[in-house]
Amino acid sequence: MNMKEKLQEIREEAEKRIQNSEGLEQLNEVRVAFLGKKGQLTAVLKGMKDVAPEERPVIGQLVNDARVYIEEFLEETKARMEQILQEKQLKEEVIDVTLPAVKMETGYRHPNTIALEEVQRIFIGMGYEVVEGPEIEYDSYNFTKLNIPEDHPAKDEQDTFYITKDIVLRTQTSPVQARVMEKGELPIRMIAPGRVFRSDEVDATHSPSFHQIEGLVIDKNITFADLKGTLEEFARELFGPETKTKFRPHHFPFTEPSAEVDVSCFKCKGSGCRFCKGSGWIEILGCGMVHPHVLEMCGVDSEKYSGFAFGVGLERIALLKYEIDDMRLLYENDIRFLKQF
Ligand code: DAH
Repeated sequence: MNMKEKLQEIREEAEKRIQNSEGLEQLNEVRVAFLGKKGQLTAVLKGMKDVAPEERPVIGQLVNDARVYIEEFLEETKARMEQILQEKQLKEEVIDVTLPAVKMETGYRHPNTIALEEVQRIFIGMGYEVVEGPEIEYDSYNFTKLNIPEDHPAKDEQDTFYITKDIVLRTQTSPVQARVMEKGELPIRMIAPGRVFRSDEVDATHSPSFHQIEGLVIDKNITFADLKGTLEEFARELFGPETKTKFRPHHFPFTEPSAEVDVSCFKCKGSGCRFCKGSGWIEILGCGMVHPHVLEMCGVDSEKYSGFAFGVGLERIALLKYEIDDMRLLYENDIRFLKQF
């Protein structure tokens, strides 16, 4: 086979392989196989030394023609492949703007959160500070400094989660009172919201973990009239200006005298309904004048200072305000429930 025929064969083979290439990668393999350093055309050029000198310009021209031809054919094919690829991509990535959008569900504020913010708004408006205390608490703060003696039924293991003999999950937010008084910065006007724990079975009105808001005011000349006025105003703000309050004598170890406060039923306005179990009144909190013994145990001079305290159940407020009749709904966090508030 002479040089001419050999070159013609190379051209044809290259043509075939280019046409049969299935993608850019294969096309590149063809380029290497023919035009690369160890490619077929390069091999021909290397064989030029065996060609008679007078024929060299002619053969040289032919090799060059073949190279240009293959190169152009490669380029053309490559351009066509790229275009097909791009068209395919454009088709695949098309956005159908008529499709319905994916609806993103936004979060909702929990009824507890709404109720807490409402209570905080009211007390902050009256000049109270919001403070927090630990959920894991010393037995001494949860009980002893609040005048709850060693043999008090509240200390029974039935109610209290003990971590060690001296450390408990706080059963009430009242220990924050002791912590704030001990700091010795008087006067005090604070509320302390937070989680509390009791070893209770779950039912419509009980949970082993719930929330309270503690209140404490300590100053000179604080009387039961201040307590009454404050909590009456609180009830009116929370349940509406028509709301009446009733202070029933009660007993708490850390207050003397103590009371429980009922508000007139905001549903039936006091005439009696399912909500207030026919009585016209709903109990909302416990309160009293801070026991002098508690003041002294917490480093406050009970001769100079007096004060009042109260404790509100947050869930109770949320249940009442939003007319929810089962406390368990507050903990299940079912979005269908939460979205109503
Ligand atoms: N700590 C009480 C409880 O958990 C509620 C309470 C009653 C708090 C009277 C007070 C108070 O500060 O004065 O039942």
